[in-house]
Amino acid sequence: MSKKSLRYVCQGCAATHAKWNGQCADCGAWNSLIQENTPDPAPKGMGSKKGRAIEFFALKGEQEKPPRFVSGIKEFDRTTGGGLVPGSALLVGGDPGVGKSTLLLQVAAALAGTVSCAYISGEEAIDQLRLRADRLNVESAPVNLAAATSVRDITTTLGNPNGPKVVVIDSIQTMYVDNVDSAPGTVTQVRTSAQELIRLAKSTGFCVILVGHVTKEGTIAGPRVLEHMVDTVLYFEGERSHQFRILRAVKNRFGATDEIGVFEMGDAGLSEVENPSALFLSDRDTQISGASVFAGLEGTRPVLVEIQSLISPSQLATPRRAVIGWDSNRLAMLMAVLDARCGLALGGGDVYLNVAGGLRVTEPAADLAVVAALVSSLSGVPLPPETVFFGEVGLSGEIRPVAHSDVRLKEAEKLGFKHAVIPTQRSKKPKRLRDHGLSILEIDHVAEIAARFGPEKREQNEATANASTNSSVSQS
Ligand code: TYD
Ligand code: MG
Repeated sequence: MSKKSLRYVCQGCAATHAKWNGQCADCGAWNSLIQENTPDPAPKGMGSKKGRAIEFFALKGEQEKPPRFVSGIKEFDRTTGGGLVPGSALLVGGDPGVGKSTLLLQVAAALAGTVSCAYISGEEAIDQLRLRADRLNVESAPVNLAAATSVRDITTTLGNPNGPKVVVIDSIQTMYVDNVDSAPGTVTQVRTSAQELIRLAKSTGFCVILVGHVTKEGTIAGPRVLEHMVDTVLYFEGERSHQFRILRAVKNRFGATDEIGVFEMGDAGLSEVENPSALFLSDRDTQISGASVFAGLEGTRPVLVEIQSLISPSQLATPRRAVIGWDSNRLAMLMAVLDARCGLALGGGDVYLNVAGGLRVTEPAADLAVVAALVSSLSGVPLPPETVFFGEVGLSGEIRPVAHSDVRLKEAEKLGFKHAVIPTQRSKKPKRLRDHGLSILEIDHVAEIAARFGPEKREQNEATANASTNSSVSQS
């Protein structure tokens, strides 16, 4: 047994300190140090004892593709890169109450028809789990349920080759290893429990899915400390007030990391959303100023979302900037570009920007749609209906081409859009441009957006409106 000593471990970054402090000296988090019993670090250096020589291999070789457990829940399978890989470890993180347990019970039930599955809950009793299964209409699926929190018991049960092939641990924060003195949920417990479970999964060949709550300000060790230990990290996101839930891969050793799965939370659990664009655009009012449609791409799939902006006179010394679903630094940059390159000063007003439907957009390709929404909000002139926007904006106001124009345009066309405003295509034209499915406006500077939809446009509109009323008055 190694010698143990009392230390203070930061619950945010897992750094250990000899003394308590209000702030972690490593990551700067406040009130994150918690007293834990941790083994003394290993002695420095290795001494003179020799190890074995390791063998080297060529890059090329006969390698089988890993087999996959496919659940049939397409949104989940796509996000994991085509199904679960035996012997791998998956972490599903998310806010409490977002629907992680619901999702994984549904996945376990779907998989149970083909591979044996175990669902081990440290948070809910068997009765509660059964009630949930009933609600989800999966009560007849052959899932092995258990309520347990001791990692020693779990590893003893699972450590045989005929055991389950997929094991869900809900959640890693409730698990404990009995020879570690810290409370469940502390960094040391979470890390040790995860290590033990992952080691067993690799040696026995089952896939372990760990559920981790993302909690505020590191009071309980979040999934961040586990990210490097697992093969795949998925985050389950969504506002509780919206019914949409998005499963996003942020790390995947067996697939692409920019895939998303879209679900809708209903009375009977999560259902797949095959056409997210239609859903995100369903409640749209096309005659409103400050709203544009962005033809985006999430992983391999196109997603159309509405970008809404509102600019109102500010009562504050420092005007408000509120952004939901997008990067606030990027908004600041675009406002600066509009100011410096087009003379549109938004600086004095409160600026609100919202990606409708609860999606988080990370692509720079959304720049042009954001600029269009801002300009339209400023002028009060609605953007032309049935128009999509995409393109990246540079600091000089130039609009740069983005990848996969074809896919974006095709999706827009499929959803009944008629026009697209896109960056000037310098190299080969996207197929869709040649197919004339949509009328395309190619632009290469934000000034064109400002000229077409900005305040000048409103003045022109007003002038023509006045002229026509004047002429109709003079006629009568
Ligand atoms: P849950 O899966 O328990 O969340 P987590 O494990 O991430 O903490 O889901 C909790 C929420 O989902 C809860 O607020 C109720 C809602 N819910 C539904 O709306 N419909 C359903 O069929 C189920 C099972 C849950
Ligand atoms: Mg839960």
